[in-house]
Amino acid sequence: MIEETKARKILRKFRYGMVGGGIGSLIGDVHKRSIDLDGSAQLVAGCFSRSFETSLETGKMYELEENRIYRTYEEMAKAEAAREDGIDFVVIVTPNSSHYPISKAFLENGIHVVCDKPLALSSDEGRDLKRIAEEKGLLFCVAHIYTGYPLVKQAKLMIENGDIGKIRSVRGQYIQGWMATPVEKTGNKQAAWRIDPKQTGIANCMGDIGTHIEQMMAYVTGLRIESLCANMTAYLGRELDNDGQVLIKYEGGASGMLWASHIVIGHDNDLSFIICGEKGTLEWHQEQPNDLIVKMLDQPTQVLSRGNGYFYPEVNAAVRIPSGHVEGHFVAFANIYRGFTQDLEALETGAPLKYDYPGVDAGIEGNVFVERCVESNRNGSAWVKF
Ligand SMILES: NC(=O)c1ccc[n+]([C@@H]2O[C@H](COP(=O)([O-])OP(=O)(O)OC[C@H]3O[C@@H](n4cnc5c(N)ncnc54)[C@H](O)[C@@H]3O)[C@@H](O)[C@H]2O)c1
Repeated sequence: MIEETKARKILRKFRYGMVGGGIGSLIGDVHKRSIDLDGSAQLVAGCFSRSFETSLETGKMYELEENRIYRTYEEMAKAEAAREDGIDFVVIVTPNSSHYPISKAFLENGIHVVCDKPLALSSDEGRDLKRIAEEKGLLFCVAHIYTGYPLVKQAKLMIENGDIGKIRSVRGQYIQGWMATPVEKTGNKQAAWRIDPKQTGIANCMGDIGTHIEQMMAYVTGLRIESLCANMTAYLGRELDNDGQVLIKYEGGASGMLWASHIVIGHDNDLSFIICGEKGTLEWHQEQPNDLIVKMLDQPTQVLSRGNGYFYPEVNAAVRIPSGHVEGHFVAFANIYRGFTQDLEALETGAPLKYDYPGVDAGIEGNVFVERCVESNRNGSAWVKF
């Protein structure tokens, strides 16, 4: 067994609150279970729903004290800031349109923020959140959790190390099939708000999962987008896109294509990439997250398998169980929270911050990406500067 899979010491258990994540919702519970995996923070407060009854029911299920289950997020931010034992950070897992006001309320009350993606409805809102966080000296994490997978870190480190040479061409995709039929008409709450521009913003699919694959490619390759052109399509009479392809020219000459879709039947959560350099190619699939495929010039294909001794130490530090014991989504989430809570610890001990999690800049870049894609699509898929 490699050393890194052993249990780690937690310096202090942080206290956190949640906004959104009421019973019947999707991602709040995944955040909680992922934080519980390492035990670095405990849920102590919440405003889980706009319905106080649902909020109460959810808070009781999580064994919270009743006086820390709130009617509104505004009330929660003020009350928690005023308590000696108030929350250290808040997790925001509401639909997109409320990310900005909720994040702002907690930042203004001196509370660190983890906000789900997309960060805000516009890059201007995102920049405003960055400004407040910086002024107050607060940490801000955006839950682009897919970069928490150990083998994604390995791909990033191999590229930084020059293993596949200068990058020439990349392809990233995040395709799902769950909205291939009008599920919003059959009581699917998650689909209903995603197709509504008032709740989801100027784009649906490109903001919802396009931002995930954009952030993934930026994280792994380090490439910056110079310009892009996008083709986005709305199906089933919906107002916003369900499918989109983006061609990209990166600074330094590399080229790329990204595909985000909610209507690809048979693809459940197919986030994957191919990164082609001058010496070799890396390939990774989120649905087989424990393998990284490496194809070097004139050599047979290698499959690197998570948890073995040949990985970079930072990669094995992100692993919880030995090789061959399958790890997945919760661990990727937990790795984002590990990076975030390690920086919270560093703020208390005076150690240097490592920023080993997607920060507010990644969120702003996601918003810019969506804005440029929509602009390009409206102009007949014209090339636009990033
Ligand atoms: N990081 C990821 O991998 C990932 C995955 C899925 C969803 N998301 C993001 O998470 C967010 C939530 O998505 P979801 O699918 O869980 O949505 P959902 O509809 O399942 O849940 C939203 C929850 O927020 C609550 N809510 C709404 N407004 C509120 C308010 N003002 N105060 C308190 N609670 C409020 C709702 O009652 C509900 O409980 C979205 O921004 C989505 O893009 C991220």
